[in-house]
Amino acid sequence: MEFIDLGRQYRAYRQEIDRSVCRIMESCRFILGEEVSLLEQELSVFTGAKYAVGVGSGTDGLLISLLANGIGPGHVVITTPFTFIATAEVISLLGARPVFVDIDPETFNLDVSKLSETLEGLQRRGTPANCVIPVSLYGLCPEMDAINAVAQSHGLLVIEDACQSLGSLYKEQSSCNLCKVGVTSFFPSKPLGCFGDGGMIFTSEQSLAEKFKALRVHGQTARYEHEFIGINGRLDALQAAVLRVKLKYFSKEISSRQGAAAYYSKLLEPLREEIIPQYIPGHCESVFAQYTIRIKNGKRDKVAEFLKARGIPTAIHYPMPLHLQKAFARLGYSQGDLPVAEKASREVLSLPMHAFIKESEQDQVVSAIRDAIKN
Ligand SMILES: Cc1ncc(COP(=O)(O)O)c(C=O)c1O
Repeated sequence: MEFIDLGRQYRAYRQEIDRSVCRIMESCRFILGEEVSLLEQELSVFTGAKYAVGVGSGTDGLLISLLANGIGPGHVVITTPFTFIATAEVISLLGARPVFVDIDPETFNLDVSKLSETLEGLQRRGTPANCVIPVSLYGLCPEMDAINAVAQSHGLLVIEDACQSLGSLYKEQSSCNLCKVGVTSFFPSKPLGCFGDGGMIFTSEQSLAEKFKALRVHGQTARYEHEFIGINGRLDALQAAVLRVKLKYFSKEISSRQGAAAYYSKLLEPLREEIIPQYIPGHCESVFAQYTIRIKNGKRDKVAEFLKARGIPTAIHYPMPLHLQKAFARLGYSQGDLPVAEKASREVLSLPMHAFIKESEQDQVVSAIRDAIKN
């Protein structure tokens, strides 16, 4: 069994993907061009955001978003410690300071009540925050209305790290279009994944979209005229061609993922004493980039080993929260500072999940979990 079966997906769309990729190779137009523009238009329609700008990866998207908004040395950017490192790495790369706010134990997303506390503390110490990057973890959007309201009252820029959540909804509005800027990733294992690296930035502000477009080509605004310091952060035409094929089937795939998640939840219900799936509030629809459970009573690693022995792959997103990573040691955090994220990192386990998973495979996964807990 595969954790994410990309082979099954490729075989399902093979002819169309191969034809599209060959078309790009025959055209010899590999950098940006029509294919990227068409994907941008299609994803702008899909999310409802007025502008979509293709970039080299989710990391590039986050970096460009911060750069475009002038975030740099002396600035403070708030985010969650329970995410992939890229979310906070880009803050440090620009010379700004990441400040971590603990998560909600049920959704694993940024805890909004703690966000307000932290903002007030920073204000009192004379180092007010400039920006907040909430992450839509595993595909579930955080409480964006509350985050936007708090951010507005403190004059903060909000960037949704939607690298795991393209295709998710929050109060019927698309992830990537829930605040000033949304950034997604097309890393192969993401719900909409390409055949390498890729990403997209979304906004409804024209001037910002134009700046993103300049920053992805070394700050260039006309040929060899560089108004800003930027990066080489473009989306490849070949990746756009693959994504445009997959996008045609994306809505159907989202329904399949949601069906698979509902089936896992049903199968796991009798194990509720020890297994708690990520809580999805009624006003949210997750794309289930991951189906992640919390395993109580210190049994997570034992369950993962047991499943591995039965040929069932699992993953831990994430085994160490960012505030305890060596790369962020200079920020001065210690064990115990963000206890909810620390506990989650000891208890979470992501199960095989993709649009092509079969119920018989999910039966196998849950029966192995049942046996692991009993043993
Ligand atoms: C939450 C989050 N942020 C940022 C990224 C970075 O995206 P990419 O790998 O496309 O640079 C990822 C990808 O794993 C992610 O999951």
